[in-house]
Amino acid sequence: MIGNATIDKADRLAAAREWFGDVVRLTEPYAGRPPLWIEPAAEALRRKPAAAARWMADNKDHVEASLLSFGAVVMHGFAVHDTDDFAAVMAPFETYAQGYTAGTSERNVIKGEVMESTRTAQHIYILLHQEMSYLPDNPRGLAFYCKSPSPVGGETVIADMRGLLEALPKELGQRFIEKGIRYVRNMRNRDLDDWRADPTFQHHSWQDRFASEDRAKVGAQLFERGADFRWEDDGSLTLWTELPGITHHPVTGERLFFNQMVAQTKHRVMFGDKPVHEGPYGDLLVRPHFITFSDGTSLNDDEYMVIHNEMERRKVAFPWQAGDIMILENKFTAHGRHPYEGPRDIQVLLLG
Ligand SMILES: [Fe+2]
Repeated sequence: MIGNATIDKADRLAAAREWFGDVVRLTEPYAGRPPLWIEPAAEALRRKPAAAARWMADNKDHVEASLLSFGAVVMHGFAVHDTDDFAAVMAPFETYAQGYTAGTSERNVIKGEVMESTRTAQHIYILLHQEMSYLPDNPRGLAFYCKSPSPVGGETVIADMRGLLEALPKELGQRFIEKGIRYVRNMRNRDLDDWRADPTFQHHSWQDRFASEDRAKVGAQLFERGADFRWEDDGSLTLWTELPGITHHPVTGERLFFNQMVAQTKHRVMFGDKPVHEGPYGDLLVRPHFITFSDGTSLNDDEYMVIHNEMERRKVAFPWQAGDIMILENKFTAHGRHPYEGPRDIQVLLLG
């Protein structure tokens, strides 16, 4: 590992310039926040995909060091024309072996380990979150690739999670430190003629999510991912995990807010003022998501908004340009997606 994860924010750009040299131009477009913005200065990096891949192979350690100090890097203007070019640039990185099994978002494989970023409906704002923080094991990072941006909206937004816990009112932060988080999810039974199949509810079926009809196989995968589960009488699947609300970074030891208490609450900030689940589901607790602290208590609306607003305050949104790659350190930097209109092709690779 090159570089020092505890580099002062004021010094990190100068340090990165020293590591990378003058074949690239480095800037920090949102001072003090992620990402480190990397643009080619050398013409070959703009024109030749093989040169872009070679640059990454030569600079992988510097990118890793930048992920620790900046939390995210964006490669902008490199020759990355398609999924194969993206995979070639990311080849020096280890991918996340467990893949996306038991993930919450709908996404399909494009090629190899490169996946669609999400199929979540266009009008929904996917709130800032750290990938798979609701599972005991989660990816170290993510790499997004913009094949083609949407004409309206659709930014993959990010936010610095360092210091978020400390920015919360003391009592509120303390609850995340002291209590675990219980993530309960239900996946409906596809074979049932079910009102919950309406896509508005995002109530996915376990058959679709696991690409299997075999309950034993699904159970084995959940066991492997560290999730408890039970089969309901209607053939739906309820699964749950209980995890700390914070984590310590494996390299730097920093204590970080690391949970999806806010992102998995079906709140009006995601859907707009029209409540989606309250009416139709009534008292039914087998909802797509049901999230509480481990003692069964929840955030009240004010507390929810305090955390949401603090994450929004930290948010960085820049328009995608075709060919952009954004690499995130999953514990330091949250990501989300703004609503959009028109076609959008953003691809993702999970890093291990
Ligand atoms: Fe995500």
